[in-house]
Amino acid sequence: MKWHIRQERDGDAPAIHAVVRAAFGQRDEAGLVDALRLAGDLTLSLVAEADGEIIGHIALSRLKSPKNALALAPVSVAPDRQGEGIGAALIRKSTEEARRRGEALIFVLGDPAYYTRFGFSVETAAPYECIYAGDYFMALELTAEKADPAEVIYADAFGELG
Ligand SMILES: CC(C)(COP(=O)(O)OP(=O)(O)OC[C@H]1O[C@@H](n2cnc3c(N)ncnc32)[C@H](O)[C@@H]1OP(=O)(O)O)[C@@H](O)C(=O)NCCC(=O)NCCS
Repeated sequence: MKWHIRQERDGDAPAIHAVVRAAFGQRDEAGLVDALRLAGDLTLSLVAEADGEIIGHIALSRLKSPKNALALAPVSVAPDRQGEGIGAALIRKSTEEARRRGEALIFVLGDPAYYTRFGFSVETAAPYECIYAGDYFMALELTAEKADPAEVIYADAFGELG
């Protein structure tokens, strides 16, 4: 079944919770999306929809620091729809939208084998201090302007993740 990507709308929250929970096989990440939304930190929330059903989701949240920077997490695709390019489309659409809105940087914690294909790199994130810094911490620059290497501080909801 063909799918398309659109922004989250009123009433989508329960279906988003369900797809995130199904993708991760646990509640933590779905709870994170709910907590980000509740706190007003869910800057960009896109869903993949097929025949009226939400089958994928991506969250980009505002960082406390640096300025004009977002965190990409989590990205979720329903287990029976993985490997169709839905995750890739969600990531590409969300990074394009962030660029269009004038954001400078996006940080992600994930597998470099996956995220480097979208332009994220460990090298770009390396100058930034962060509690998540390491081999899986990547960043994507959206503008030619260099951001000040400030500490990367995620929204409060991430601290509650454990
Ligand atoms: C990760 C995820 C979002 C990818 O979505 P998807 O729609 O299945 O991915 P796509 O179809 O765009 O891409 C599939 C490719 O990604 C690779 N891939 C999928 N998950 C991966 C992971 N965690 N690490 C590395 N590569 C991964 C697949 O091997 C495949 O590679 P190929 O293109 O070389 O064959 C999805 O598998 C998912 O929801 N997983 C569970 C939740 C999760 O781990 N989220 C990511 C962390 S925030």
